[in-house]
Amino acid sequence: MSNEKEQWGSRFGLILAVAGNAVGLGNFLRFPVQAASNGGGAFMIPYFIAFLLLGIPLMWVEWGIGRHGGKYGHGSAPGMFDVLWNNPVAKYMGVMGLLISMVILIYYTYIESWTLGYSIFSITGLYQGEESLEAMSGFLSSYQGLESGTHFTSMWPAYGLMLFTFLVNFFVLWRGLSGGIEKLAKFAMPMLFIFAVILLIRVFTLGTPDPSQPENSIASGLAYIWEPNLSELSKASVWIAAAGQIFFTLSVGMGTIHAYASYLRPKDDIALSGLTTAATNEFVEVVLGGSIAIPVAVAFFGLDMTKEIASGGAFNLGFVSMPVIFGKIPLGQVFGMLWFLLLFVAGITSSVAMGQPVVAFFKNQFGMTHKRAVLALAALVIICVQPVVFFLGHGFLDEMDYWSGTFGLVVFATIEIILFAWVFKIDRAWGEINSGSDIRIPVFFKYVIKYVTPLYLLIIMGVWFYQDAWDILMLNKTPTGQPVNDADVPYIWGARALMVGLFALLAFLVHIAWKRKRKLGIEDTSLKKAKQAPAGS
Ligand code: ALA
Repeated sequence: MSNEKEQWGSRFGLILAVAGNAVGLGNFLRFPVQAASNGGGAFMIPYFIAFLLLGIPLMWVEWGIGRHGGKYGHGSAPGMFDVLWNNPVAKYMGVMGLLISMVILIYYTYIESWTLGYSIFSITGLYQGEESLEAMSGFLSSYQGLESGTHFTSMWPAYGLMLFTFLVNFFVLWRGLSGGIEKLAKFAMPMLFIFAVILLIRVFTLGTPDPSQPENSIASGLAYIWEPNLSELSKASVWIAAAGQIFFTLSVGMGTIHAYASYLRPKDDIALSGLTTAATNEFVEVVLGGSIAIPVAVAFFGLDMTKEIASGGAFNLGFVSMPVIFGKIPLGQVFGMLWFLLLFVAGITSSVAMGQPVVAFFKNQFGMTHKRAVLALAALVIICVQPVVFFLGHGFLDEMDYWSGTFGLVVFATIEIILFAWVFKIDRAWGEINSGSDIRIPVFFKYVIKYVTPLYLLIIMGVWFYQDAWDILMLNKTPTGQPVNDADVPYIWGARALMVGLFALLAFLVHIAWKRKRKLGIEDTSLKKAKQAPAGS
């Protein structure tokens, strides 16, 4: 019933692990695409506002809920919510913290495997010679099994790489918290910085690749992102995109930060650690992530074309335009390998975090051994990843990403902040966040957590549902804004059924776990104490 046995090895290791959880494909692929397709400099203003009013407060809230739940032996949201609110419904609200992390893990593993594949294709020169965007797009489609090409006649190479990536992820989870996740972060995070800095130097020394087109330069790419542009601020869609990016990139609203924080000791600092990890993520995102893909795309393709590429999504930018550019620069094969390895390393430190909540759930609530819990999750993931791989071209992955990785994060964050600040009560919540703290958080944030963040979330959720989600739900458009293809409709419903089915399964498991605990008389010893415990105790 407890996760007391597992501990982080060191504070530095913990911070690297949480930073690794946050820093992922979102920083290097999703951020540039969001920035470029939402007005560049116009995007950055709502982005920083969302960071201040949503990202940082939610980071503290999640560390707070996680450490608090950990005191009572809970490493996942159902148990954590149950100790925040003495109501039978609370634990079912926590199911979302298991579902979202697991669904993202399922499709993220597959995308992560492409980055590994492309690092191999880069160094071996497999895509060399595909000089246009169309040709490179064909290469990607044939790799994904969407069409037959000269390099790939089946999707088995992609399938094999997915299996390998899956095994690497579960190997790390198998090794446990400090022996797996923390060790990985200590090795992967410095490596990620080194790769990113090498790429950055290469980008900054590219200048103006075609002197006959002086407007296409690294400088104009950077200017596009960094020159503030107030004209687009009245568009709700830009504010929503900025908030969505903050959620995804910081990994808030997923249930993973809670899981990591649950292994802290009651008096360990969370205020400074939470802030440090959020700041590290932002440095990697805006300084490193913002300076690679978009500036090089502008330098090689021009601003208008870059916006068009970005509007085609993160895969278009990362797996189509970047390889074309690597084909044009000296030592492009090496830089290509570095870029894709950077993505792989960033991805894996995030995906292992997505496995942790369900592993902790199985261990804490069912008394499973660590290895059994990892195997149980592995079995679920490998089954559910099959349709993601085979029905990619029918929008299966996009549908999961939209409802879990985009909309779901906001819903879960809204639930958790209302539970923490309003049901558990803000004074206790504030006491919990500040307990053992190495810094004094300005009291301004107490009011932000109580009023501003929940209101901001409710407005975003409402506007988003009205503007976007409703049409997607009713199949009036796809998550990428395209008209829905009739042939894809059964697959889209399949993706929805899978998510609803997983929710039902997890909710049922929560039901049995609590019933079992009641039978064994475990509830009284852990939950009652928790409900009576003063904040920060
Ligand atoms: N926060 C992780 C990322 O940015 C999920 O990819």
